[in-house]
Parts: sequence; structure tokens; C-alpha cells
Amino acid sequence: MRRWIIVALAVLVPAAGLTIWFLVRGDGGPHAGSRLRVLFSGETMGELEPCNCSGKMAGGLPARGGYIATVEGDRLLLDTGCIGAGSRDFEVLRTEAAMRGMAAMRYDAANLGESELWLGRDRLADLARLGVPLVSANVRGEDGAEVVPACLVLRRSGLKVLVTGVVESGRYQVGPGLAVDSPREALGRLTPEWRKKADAIIILADLELAAVKDLAADFPEITLILFRGRGDSHAPERANRTIIASVYGEARYLGDLALEWASASDFSAAGQAVLLDERFAPSDAVAEACIGWYKDAVRGRRFDPARPGPTWNRIAARQAEPLNRYVGSDACRECHAAEYEKWSAGAHARAMESLRRVGYEFSPECIACHATGYGASDGYKSMDETSALARVGCEACHGRGQVMAAAGHKGTARSRGEERCRECHNPKRHETFNFDREWAAIRHEGKP
Ligand code: HEC
Ligand code: HEC
Ligand code: HEC
Ligand code: HEC
Repeated sequence: MRRWIIVALAVLVPAAGLTIWFLVRGDGGPHAGSRLRVLFSGETMGELEPCNCSGKMAGGLPARGGYIATVEGDRLLLDTGCIGAGSRDFEVLRTEAAMRGMAAMRYDAANLGESELWLGRDRLADLARLGVPLVSANVRGEDGAEVVPACLVLRRSGLKVLVTGVVESGRYQVGPGLAVDSPREALGRLTPEWRKKADAIIILADLELAAVKDLAADFPEITLILFRGRGDSHAPERANRTIIASVYGEARYLGDLALEWASASDFSAAGQAVLLDERFAPSDAVAEACIGWYKDAVRGRRFDPARPGPTWNRIAARQAEPLNRYVGSDACRECHAAEYEKWSAGAHARAMESLRRVGYEFSPECIACHATGYGASDGYKSMDETSALARVGCEACHGRGQVMAAAGHKGTARSRGEERCRECHNPKRHETFNFDREWAAIRHEGKP
């Protein structure tokens, strides 16, 4: 059967050089007109779906699945790494949820990037069973043993495509049981494999642009390097012989490239970074596998956001104040009736209800801004233990109020005005925040 295809191609494309090339390769190989569709993501950072804090926002894994469902025919679906955002329990659950969604999209390969390194060997081994094939040429066990395969050989559009991944060595924090070799040396070890097995070579790289270009210079056999975007999309460009590209993360964009061969050795790429907005109906299957699973996994659980660890979440331990505590807004009512009335009629007083409405009331990434004092030993913990703090209460802006509430001492409550607002009303959650306007909307006695 294969022989027939080769002969047929040789007849259809009667360029002598090409025919010989096919015979040498023996198994098809790229030829004039070969085409390979490559879809890719990166830096998902646990963003499962948009929070819609400030109106409808773009992105999310169900939207990514929706776009992928519109792509017909053979394609490779790849990820450059940093699927999750940290190594704390709730962050690992988000990583797992994202990977379950990606498994439902039938990813072909995902690289181990910075945030995968944080997880350490045992957690990675668990996540590797979820159905997203993980790959890395330069991450191994501390004992030298393989943790995930060094490369995968995939057959698409009649081509054998070798996919491998690398992550920068010596720069990132590395979790227990893992070690990272130099990317260049690790790829050097793979080159005999490339020559034997592959018609096209794709590297998924958590590397800076300069290091990507160095690799392209050192290994001209590489067809395509998809690298970590660091908050940017990088349109396909040529570096030496190789095409390089990156895509903006947080599940907001998906890269969609077509590699095309003008001849066996002459290829080019074209494509775009697709914004995953309402043009693409979210995939129910992905929503179920990812969001549905996540909400079940966190339901009723209480996490400890204060535990330290490498993370991209801003949820951090808050200092305790030995002589003061959070007491909740009801304790302020008696003496500040006017402020209380104004506040309780506003959105801050209902911030936790908003989370409940969308099913995220157990999710630390959301509670951080929708409750009072989260991350402090005396702050919000759970609805049962600390229901008085389950909202953006007076103390979210004025600080702990026990001393004030007990004695009505002037000068014991603080507010930092605009600066404090912007910790929650940040550009990601509330792009159009304007202090004068928003303060006018919630203004209570006193001057800003
Ligand atoms: C602890 C986090 C936090 C802080 C600090 C904070 N906010 Fe908010 N704010 C929220 C959240 C969460 C909501 C959304 C509540 C909801 O609807 O569920 C919100 C909603 C609002 C709204 C209502 C918007 C609407 O569409 O109804 C206004 C106005 C507002 N905030 C102004 C401010 C101002 C002004 C400050 C600073 C003085 C401030 N906020 C400080 C978290 C915060
Ligand atoms: C960095 C702080 C922050 C985090 C984290 C955060 N929110 Fe919000 N959220 C806000 C602010 C601020 C608003 C009000 C925005 C406005 O007034 O436009 C808001 C508003 C909302 C609303 C009310 C929107 C409406 O139309 O009434 C919902 C629902 C919501 N957030 C859900 C979430 C979910 C789900 C998460 C976690 C995935 C989350 N938020 C995480 C700050 C945050
Ligand atoms: C979203 C943040 C926020 C919330 C929530 C909030 N305040 Fe304020 N409050 C402020 C800001 C900002 C000011 C004006 C700045 C200042 O003078 O301290 C202020 C002013 C005040 C003042 C007047 C201070 C003065 O010097 O005249 C009092 C009293 C007060 N708030 C009490 C409360 C009480 C009680 C609650 C809850 C029922 C509450 N605030 C909820 C942000 C907030
Ligand atoms: C027993 C009465 C009483 C209670 C309860 C009380 N306060 Fe006060 N508060 C006062 C008095 C009195 C002042 C000083 C008012 C003045 O000088 O005009 C004050 C002033 C403030 C101010 C202005 C800044 C400052 O520190 O002087 C803020 C803000 C404030 N209170 C917030 C709160 C908050 C938040 C709570 C609830 C945790 C609370 N208060 C509970 C009596 C009380």
C-alpha cells in the first residue's frame, strides 16, 4: 500500500530530485504540496474560563475546544507548556482540570514548561496519566530516569512528525525529584533519532526568543519551534531555516499555522493567533471535562492559600496583626449606620453571591477578591467558619476592625483609597476601572 502511494506521488510530481528523495526516505516525506496544519497553545496558567468580572470576556478552554471543533482534516494540536499556575493544592487542581479539558480536545503533545517543573516528579507522573501526552527532551528524574518521553513521532497528513520539548535550565525553581539538562545537549542526543524517523521536526520550547534563535542556528534540521509567548503572540518568522512562532496565553488565543512545502526542502508557514471570542461556540464536552470536573473537585473544600510555593497567583499570605482582628461588617453598623446602609445596598456586599451564582464560591483564585481578608489566619476561610467575611466588607478597605468596633477609637481604621481599590479592580478583572467614577458610585461619608 505504502509503495503504491510512493509510486503514485512520484508519478504525480515528476521532478527527478523529488522522486529520488522519496526513494531515499522510503516513506513519503514532504513533497511539493505537502501541508501540515498545526494548532498550538501555551501559558494557559490555569485559566479555565473567563471570570467575566467585568462583562463578557474572551477565552477559556471550552472556547478553545469550540474553535478546534471547526478545524477539519488532519491537524497537530500542541502546547508549549505552563498549563497550570502554581504548586499549591488548589493550583494543582486547576492544572488537572485544564489537562482534562485538553485531553478532551485530543492534544497530541504538551511540553514541560516552568510551571510543570514546579510540580515535581510525583505530581507530574499523576498528571501524565490524564491523556495529554507530555514530552520533554531535557527534564528527567534526579536519578536520571525518564519522567516523560523525550520525543513523540506522530503521523499526520502523510508525514512523520517528531515532536519534542525543552525548558530553560538553571533558571526556574524545580520541584522535588526532577532535574533539567541543558536544552542544547538534550537535543543533540536526539538528532540521530530525527534523521532516522522524521519528515518534520517540531520543538516546543519554554525558552527566551534569543535562545530559540540560537537553537535554530545550531540545529538547521528543525522545521518549527513553537516557544513560550510571555504574554505576546509572535507571528511566524524564519530563523535560519527554521520557522519560529509563539502565541498569547491564558487560554485567550490559539495559534493556527499551516506549514507548506514548495519542495522537499523548501517550506514556509502562514497562520494567525486566533482570539477565542464569542465567534466560537464553547465546546460542551470540554466544559464538562474541565469546568464541571473542577467545580466538583473544589466543592466543599477549604484550601490554605497562605501556604507558600512558586505561583503566578497573587493570593499571598497576609500578615496577622497581633492586637487586631477581622470582625465583619455587621460589627460596624451600630456606630456607622449611614455607611453601612450605603455599603449593604451595593455590589461589594454581594460579592460572594456573585461567585455562588457562577459556581466558583470554593475557588481560591476567585475568593481572593470576593471576600474579606482571604489569606490571613483571621480572614475568610469558608462559609461555615467565617460567614461574616464572605463579601467585600468594610474591612477589605479599612483593615481589621476589632479594636475600632470594641471602642470606637478614632484613627484605628485605615483606608488607602485608590491604591487599595486597584488591588482588586486590576486591569485583568476590571479593565475600565476609573477611580473617580467608581468611588462616586460607592461613596460614603468622608472624602476620598
Ligand atoms: C477586596 C477586593 C476589592 C476592593 C479592595 C475593592 N473592590 Fe470594588 N468590587 C470588588 C468586587 C469583587 C466587586 C464585584 C461585586 C459583585 O458584583 O459581585 C466590586 C464591585 C465594585 C463596584 C460595583 C460595580 C458594579 O458594576 O456594580 C464599584 C463601584 C466598586 N467595586 C468600587 C470600588 C472602589 C472605588 C474601591 C476602592 C475604594 C473598591 N471597589 C475596592 C472587589 C473589590
Ligand atoms: C483581582 C480580583 C478579582 C479576582 C481574582 C476575581 N474577581 Fe470577579 N470581580 C472583581 C471585580 C473588581 C469585579 C467588579 C468589576 C466591575 O465592576 O466591572 C468582579 C465582578 C465579578 C462578577 C460580577 C459580574 C457581574 O456582571 O455582576 C462575577 C460573577 C465574578 N467577578 C466572578 C469571578 C470569578 C468566577 C472569579 C474566579 C475565576 C473571579 N471573579 C475572580 C475582582 C476579581
Ligand atoms: C471599597 C472600599 C470600602 C468599603 C467596602 C468601605 N469603605 Fe469606608 N471608605 C472607603 C474610602 C476610600 C473612604 C474615604 C477615604 C477616607 O477618608 O478614609 C471611606 C470612608 C469611610 C469613613 C469616613 C472616614 C473619614 O475620615 O471621614 C467611614 C466612617 C467609613 N468609610 C466606614 C465604612 C464602613 C462602616 C464600611 C462598611 C459598612 C465601609 N466604610 C466600607 C472605602 C471603603
Ligand atoms: C462603638 C462605635 C463604633 C464602632 C462599632 C465602629 N466605629 Fe468606626 N468610628 C467610631 C468613631 C467614634 C469614629 C471617629 C469618628 C469621628 O471622629 O468623626 C470612627 C471612625 C472610623 C473611621 C474613620 C477613620 C478613623 O479611624 O478614625 C473608619 C474608616 C471607621 N471608623 C471604620 C469602622 C469600621 C470598618 C468598623 C467595623 C469594623 C467600625 N468603624 C466600627 C465608632 C465606631
